Amino acid sequence: VSPAIIAAVERLMRRVEDFPAAGVQFCDLTPVLADPDGFDAVVAGLVASHEIGSVDYVAGLDARGFLLAGAVAVQLHTGVLAIRKAGKLPPPVHSRSYELEYGAATLELPADGLDLRGKRVLVVDDVLATGGTLGAAVGLLDDCGAVVAGLSVVLEVPGLGGRDRLAGTPLTCLTVA
Ligand code: PRP
Ligand code: MG
Repeated sequence: VSPAIIAAVERLMRRVEDFPAAGVQFCDLTPVLADPDGFDAVVAGLVASHEIGSVDYVAGLDARGFLLAGAVAVQLHTGVLAIRKAGKLPPPVHSRSYELEYGAATLELPADGLDLRGKRVLVVDDVLATGGTLGAAVGLLDDCGAVVAGLSVVLEVPGLGGRDRLAGTPLTCLTVA
C-alpha cells in the first residue's frame, strides 16, 4: 500500500479520546469515507495486491463493510456479496456465530442460489479489532466451500489479538489506530 494512500487516511481520520471508555482512543473513519479523495485512496488501498482475475467475489461485512465492498468489487471487476447479520436473509442460510465484548453475534450467507464452492473471495471491512467479525466471515466462507483469497481492512486496532486470530489468511490493513 503506497505511502500516499496511508497519508490520506491518516490526514482525514478523526481521533477521539476516551471513547467508548476512558483511556481508549476511538478512530472515526467517517470523514475519510465522506471525502472524495479519501474514499478513493481507501478503495485503492483495499484493492492493492489483488489483480483483476485473481478473485471471483468481494464480500462486505454488515454493515460498514458494505460501503467499501461494492467500490472494491467494481475496481476488481467482480460481483459483490453482502455477509449479513442474523435475521436479514430468508432460509436456508449458512451461519457462523462469534463473540463480542458483551454477548454474541451471527453472520449469514444464503445457502441457496449462490454456489461459492471453489470461488476465491476477498473480504473487506472497515476495522479489525478482536478479529471476531472477520474470523466468523472466514469460517462462514469455509462452510460455503469458498477460498478466502484475502482480508482487507482500513484500520487495525492493535493489542486485541485480531491479527493473531486471523493468522493463515493474507491480511492487508491500510493503517493502525
Ligand atoms: C465493527 C467494525 C468491524 C468490527 C470489528 O462493526 O465495523 O466490523 O466491529 O471488531 P472485531 O474485530 O472485534 O470483530 P460492528 O459490529 O460495530 O457493526 P457495524 O459494522 O454494523 O457498525
Ligand atoms: Mg462492522
